[in-house]
Amino acid sequence: MSEIKRIGVLTSGGDAPGMNAAVRAVVRSCVYYNTDVYGIYEGYKGLIDGNLRQMSVRSVNNILGSGGTILRSSRSPEFRTEEGRRRAWEVLKKNKIDALVAIGGDGTFSGALQLGKEYDIQVVGIPATIDNDIAGTDYSIGYDSASNVVVSCVDKIRDTALSHNRLFFVEVMGRDTGFIALRSGIASGAICIMVPERNISIEELIAILRKGYRNRKTSSIVLVAEGNENGGAVELAKAVNEKYKDYETKVTILGHLQRGGDPSCFDRVIASEMGVAGVEGLLNGNTGFMTGYHCGKIVETPLNTVKLEKKQLNENLVKIAQILSI
Ligand code: F6P
Repeated sequence: MSEIKRIGVLTSGGDAPGMNAAVRAVVRSCVYYNTDVYGIYEGYKGLIDGNLRQMSVRSVNNILGSGGTILRSSRSPEFRTEEGRRRAWEVLKKNKIDALVAIGGDGTFSGALQLGKEYDIQVVGIPATIDNDIAGTDYSIGYDSASNVVVSCVDKIRDTALSHNRLFFVEVMGRDTGFIALRSGIASGAICIMVPERNISIEELIAILRKGYRNRKTSSIVLVAEGNENGGAVELAKAVNEKYKDYETKVTILGHLQRGGDPSCFDRVIASEMGVAGVEGLLNGNTGFMTGYHCGKIVETPLNTVKLEKKQLNENLVKIAQILSI
C-alpha cells in the first residue's frame, strides 16, 4: 500500500508539444488512484516561490491537443544551488507533497535527481523535449510534433526551391544533437543532413551538391542542425557560396516555430502512457526513475543512468539518408 497522499507536477526547460497531454495524464491518474495532485507553475522557479495550486479532474479539460504547457515553464538557475533546493523543499513540506513528477529534459532531470538525493521525496522524470536527446527512451514527448513541423515547412520551401532552381540551407533546432535534423531530413528528402555527431567538411558537402547537380537535380535542400560543428545554415551557405556557384543559395532558420503547435497523435499517446506510468511507479514506491518508451513499451530507467549515457543517432537512419539522397 502506497504512503503517497499528494503528488506535485511541474514542467521545466523548453516547452514541447505534448507536455499538456502529460500533465493531463498525471492529474487524471492521480484522481483515479485517489491521490491529491498539485500543479506547480513555472517549473522549479515556481516551486521555490510556492507558486502551486491543487488540481482536479476538470483542471485539465481540453488541453490534450494544445501546444505549450498550461503550467508554464522556466529554466531556474536558483534551483541549481543548494539554497534554492532547500527553499523548494520547504515549500513541498509545507504543502505536504510526498512525490514530484518533473516533465522536461536533461536539466529538469538533474534537478529532480538532486532533490531526491538531498531530501525525503520521491521523484519521477517524464522525458519531454523536442531535441529527443534523452537516453533511456526512443522518443521524448514533442520530438514527433516538432519533426512534423520541420517536414511541413521544408515541403513548402521545396516548392519555391524547385520553381527557382535554388539551393536552400534550412536550420533546425536540437541543441548539440542532430535527432530532429536526421529524422526530418529523411522525411523531407534533404540532399545532405549536417549534424554535430558527424562532421561533413565544406569540400565533402560541395562534392555531394556537385554530384546531385550532375544527376540533374535542379534544386536541393541541405538540412542543418543548429549545433553542427562547422557552422549553422548562415555560415555553411556563405562557405559553400564562395566555392560553388551552380545554384542561387537561400537560408531559412526555422527557430521556435518548431516548438509550437498542436501535438501529434503519437506525442499525445506517449505522453498519456508516460504520465500514467509515472504516477503508478510512484504509487508503487519507486523513486529516482524516468518513464521512457522503448520498442513499443513503456520502461523505467534510473535517472542517474539516463544522465550518464549519451544518446546515439540511429546508424541505420544515417545510412538510409545517404542512400536515398543520390
Ligand atoms: O531544448 C529545446 C530547445 O528548443 C533547443 O532545441 C534549443 O537549442 C533551445 O531549446 C532554445 O532555447 P530557448 O527557447 O531558451 O531559446
